[in-house]
Amino acid sequence: MALIAILAGDGIGPEVTHEARRVLEALGLDHQFEPGLVGGAAYRALGHPLPPQTLELAHRADAILFGAVGDPEMDGLERTLRPEQAILGLRKALGLFANLRPATMFPGLEDASALRPEVARSIDMVIVRELTGDVYFGDKGRGHTKMGLREGHDMMRYDEAEVARIARVGFEMAKRRKKILTSVDKANVLETSQLWREIVNEVALDYPEVKLTHMYVDNAAMQLVRNPGAFDVVVTGNLFGDILSDQASMCVGSIGMLPSASLNEWTGTCGLYEPIHGSAPDIAGQGKANPCAAILSAAMLLRHSLSDEASAQRIEAAVIAAIGAGARTPDLGGTHSTSAMGDAVLAALQ
Ligand code: NAD
Ligand code: IPM
Ligand code: MN
Repeated sequence: MALIAILAGDGIGPEVTHEARRVLEALGLDHQFEPGLVGGAAYRALGHPLPPQTLELAHRADAILFGAVGDPEMDGLERTLRPEQAILGLRKALGLFANLRPATMFPGLEDASALRPEVARSIDMVIVRELTGDVYFGDKGRGHTKMGLREGHDMMRYDEAEVARIARVGFEMAKRRKKILTSVDKANVLETSQLWREIVNEVALDYPEVKLTHMYVDNAAMQLVRNPGAFDVVVTGNLFGDILSDQASMCVGSIGMLPSASLNEWTGTCGLYEPIHGSAPDIAGQGKANPCAAILSAAMLLRHSLSDEASAQRIEAAVIAAIGAGARTPDLGGTHSTSAMGDAVLAALQ
């Protein structure tokens, strides 16, 4: 029996996580669920976005199902107390350096894509995003210039070990797929990216069967809407991966469709699973959120942390079937509520 921590968080986090949990429970597996407070909800109750008891639960659990954190009422808090620090803190504390963000076009969803159906049809990619380094975790600070102007800085940095281990995840993933790896950087300008490229080329020597291409991030953003079907696996740093994955989500229909797995090794046992979207304060509490990204994250949890490929595929097939049968939340152009979408997936699961 596995222990699954449920960290639902803020805004639509609890709404979509509830549907994902219902789907997990419907599988009739012998797993135990334990909820914990995180993000703005934890700050309100306990004065910290990532309280010690939540961190303790995260360490104890076999896997974490995470919703979203973020609360506009807390935008004025100092950075270290903001709800977002909870997810950043969990990633760092658990060493979750590898973030897998698959973007796949589901049959029937072409009309929901921001791209023309014939461009969108063939999308099947995984963005492998480095998650515990880069400008997110480099030295940060505020100060004043010599002229007395207020100044802020965030240092972008990677060391070779950090780049090599995420590159390996990218190559391993590509090896198991279409053997095409695109490494995205900004090596024409950034020193960090020049190191990135150097190390990726070194790791490539171990993977002669994978076709490696380097691409600048501005070009990658363009190619992602020009010909997204050409991508197989994309490996990139923390910031570029954050931005490109939101963009990829609209290529396959909605940000409400993209799940993610955050792992501390490529087939890691300790993992955190969350939709790529945030707390969506603009639609929170209205039953409008698409729970598919959360449900598909639960499938990734079973696959990567609990080695239950069969159940993962059952969930994925149920989401595809529900969509094939016409279930659509408003982001996909339909009228299903969050729970009605969950019901449709549950019905397809039976
Ligand atoms: P967001 O992803 O929350 O929302 C962006 C847009 O997408 C909104 O219009 C929203 O309504 C829509 N959307 C998002 N998820 C949806 C879903 N499941 N179904 C339908 N529509 C959906 O991004 P944002 O508005 O920039 O950020 C809101 C808050 O969430 C901020 O506090 C931000 O820091 C936080 N955030 C948290 C995470 C996380 O917890 N991992 C991720 C991204 C943003
Ligand atoms: C994501 C989010 C987070 C990130 C924020 C909330 C810290 O945008 O998971 O994509 O930037 O990593
Ligand atoms: Mn993001």
